[in-house]
Amino acid sequence: MKWKRWRLFHYRELASTNDTARELPGWSVVLADRQTAGRGRHGRPWHSSEGGLWCSLVLPTPGSADHWRALPLAVGLAVIHTLDSYHVRARMRWPNDIMVEDRKLAGLLLERFHPDHVVAGIGLNLVNDPASEDTELLGIATRLAAHTPSVPGRDAFLCLLLDSMAKIQERMKDSGITDLVEEINAMWGPLPRSVTLHRGNELITGDFSGITDSGDLILLDAENKTSIFPASQISQLTETQNPPSS
Ligand code: BTN
Repeated sequence: MKWKRWRLFHYRELASTNDTARELPGWSVVLADRQTAGRGRHGRPWHSSEGGLWCSLVLPTPGSADHWRALPLAVGLAVIHTLDSYHVRARMRWPNDIMVEDRKLAGLLLERFHPDHVVAGIGLNLVNDPASEDTELLGIATRLAAHTPSVPGRDAFLCLLLDSMAKIQERMKDSGITDLVEEINAMWGPLPRSVTLHRGNELITGDFSGITDSGDLILLDAENKTSIFPASQISQLTETQNPPSS
């Protein structure tokens, strides 16, 4: 099936859409009603029962890999734009969690299996209830049904998301992340935000303050000294305290 420039492959059940997408050409989309071995970041399982959006977008990345290094943030931006069109206010948790009211609504898993493209796996809870599958997710995960009375159908949501991603991909083609930085920096919710960064075995605390023009993370320490961290150095960011709401 085709949607504009995208070629869609739909399955009732897959182990992981990212694995099925790995051999497909750019502008392919793999969609599954459920996954039996959905994968999250850091080797965690991703619960993917029916009722959620489980898909992988094969994004062409012509030129150097460095040009595309902030692609995870750009995919996050596409998800936030799509949620905006349903009047759901979401924010990003660096590098690629989508949060609503401090609970995780969606996660992204970007994997490069091929020099010419990246597979962007997107998992978004629509009407499925992740906490009913794993009680550890109680109070941590959320679903779209909790934030809007009229939950969009999965396929309608996917079409908007594909449109949004194609536009963002176009904007990134020439200047990489630079064009998107201002918009991305408006996407973190109130800043600065207290965080702990995991760099190898080291834990670094400070205030997350957004990203630089090249997409690197900006951290302020207790003395207001700024440090810059490329995403490649940081395996994880934990939010340690919510800013007071204004
Ligand atoms: C995370 O937050 O840890 C990332 C979760 C990514 C889940 C999606 S669901 C579609 C795609 N297929 C997978 O196996 N994982 C991603």
